[in-house]
Amino acid sequence: MKRQTKVPLRSQGDLLKLEEKYCSWGDTVHYSKEPKIFERSQGSFLYDDSGIEYLDLQMWYSAANFGYGNERLNSVLKNQIDKLPQLACQYLHKEKIELATKLCRINEKKFNTKGRVHFSVGGASALEDSMKLIRNATGKNLVFAYFGSYHGRTLEVSSITSSYRYRRCFGHFANRANFLPYPYCFRCFYEKEKETCGMYCVKQFAKLFESEYYSVYDAKAKECEFTAFYIEAVQGTGGYIIPPKDYFKELKKVLDRYHILLVDDEIQMGFYRTGKFWAIENFGITPDIITFGKALTNGLNPLGGIWAKEELISPGVFPPGSTHSTFSSNTLGTAVGLETLNIIEDSDFATSINQKGNYFIQRFKALQKKYPNIGDVNGLGLALRVEICEADGFTPSRELTDKICEIGLSGKLSAQGKKRGLILDIGGYYKNVFTLAPSFYMSNREIDLAIELFEEALVKALKG
Ligand SMILES: Cc1ncc(COP(=O)(O)O)c(C=O)c1O
Repeated sequence: MKRQTKVPLRSQGDLLKLEEKYCSWGDTVHYSKEPKIFERSQGSFLYDDSGIEYLDLQMWYSAANFGYGNERLNSVLKNQIDKLPQLACQYLHKEKIELATKLCRINEKKFNTKGRVHFSVGGASALEDSMKLIRNATGKNLVFAYFGSYHGRTLEVSSITSSYRYRRCFGHFANRANFLPYPYCFRCFYEKEKETCGMYCVKQFAKLFESEYYSVYDAKAKECEFTAFYIEAVQGTGGYIIPPKDYFKELKKVLDRYHILLVDDEIQMGFYRTGKFWAIENFGITPDIITFGKALTNGLNPLGGIWAKEELISPGVFPPGSTHSTFSSNTLGTAVGLETLNIIEDSDFATSINQKGNYFIQRFKALQKKYPNIGDVNGLGLALRVEICEADGFTPSRELTDKICEIGLSGKLSAQGKKRGLILDIGGYYKNVFTLAPSFYMSNREIDLAIELFEEALVKALKG
C-alpha cells in the first residue's frame, strides 16, 4: 500500500479555530464572516464535509472555466507528473514550445500580427512582466488605466489597480496610473445616456492632448508622458462591465495618434469567457500586448504569461535574462495549457457559450421583471452581471447583495428536494454586482437550478 501523508482527523470547528490562529488574514478569506471549508469538487459543484452540494456560478473567478475535475485536463496533468514533473526553466521541454507556438499562431490568425509569448506564474506576475516590456521598449513607466480596474495585488501592479484601498497601507506609489472612467454606461461617470452620448468619454480623453496644461502631452516634443493604456476588454472585478461595441475602436484612434501602447489584460476574460478566444475580439481592435492566466490551466497548475508584438519582445529588444521566475513555464502548467487549447480546438465554444449565456440572461431578465431590486442584467458569452439595487432599481444595495451571497453560501437553500448551496461572487464599484462566471459545460437544467436557487436566496434576503 502507498504511504499517504498523515492528515489528522479534525472537526470543521477545530480546523476553523486553527485557521483563525495560524493562517494570515491578509488574503481574502476573511472578507466572509463565516469562512467555509470545502472537501471536493466536480463539474459545476463544490461539496462541503457533510456532502451538501453548492452550485458554483463563479468557478474560481473564471479560473476553472472547463469545469472542476475536467477529465482530459486532469489526466494530462497526471501523465505529466509521471513523465517530466519538474524541470528548471532554463532548460526546454516540448510542451512549453508547443503552447507558445499555438498561442502565437492563434494571434497571428486573429490579428495578422507576429509576436512571441513569455510565461510566468500567474496573473499579477504576467502584468509585472508586461510592465517590464513597455519600460524596456519605450524607456517610460507611466500608464493610463481605468477606474474599476483590477490587475492584481503585487506591489507594482497595485499601482495600476484602481482601488486606493489596496495601496493605502503600503507607502508611496510613484508609478500610480492616471485612472480614467471606464465606459460603465449603466452608471455613466459623466451622467450621460449611452444612446445619445456620442462616446463622450473618449472625447474627454482625447481632450487631454489638446493642451500641455492638461498634463499628459508635450505638443512641441510630440511626446506623451504616459506610455501605455492598460485595459480589460470586459471589466472583471469592476463588475463584468461590457463597453459599447465601438468604444475601443474610438479609443484606439486616440492612442495611435499619440503612440500609446495598448495592453489588454485577458486574465479573467480570456479563453472564451466572453464567447470569443480573447474578449478584445468582440471589439475589433488589435492590442500590442496581451496578458493571460487563470483558465489556461483550468486552475490546475499556476501559469500566466504575456503575448507581445514582435517589435516589443524580439530577442534583440528583450534579451535573455530580462525577466525570470523559478516556476515560470513549468512543465505541469504548460502541459495542461496545451491540452486546454486542444479542447478549445475540438469544441464549438463560440456557439455553445453564447447559447448558454443568452439562456442565462433570458432567465435573469424574467426574474428582473418580478423583482425591482434587480437593477441591471447583462452579459457577453458566459460573463454575466446581475446588479442588485434598492427597490428603485438603481441605488446600489450592498447590504442586499451581501445577504443573498451569504444565504447562498450557508448551504441551507432547498431545491428539487435537496438541501443545497449557491456560490456567487460580488464585484462592482459599489459591491452590488454578482459577477457570474459559470462553467462552460453547464447544462440548461443546471442553469434552471441556478435561477431557482438564486430566486430562493433573493426572496429570503428580501424578507430579512
Ligand atoms: C483582469 C485581472 N488581471 C489580473 C489579475 C491578477 O491575477 P492573479 O490573481 O493570478 O495574480 C486578475 C485576478 O483576478 C484579474 O481578474
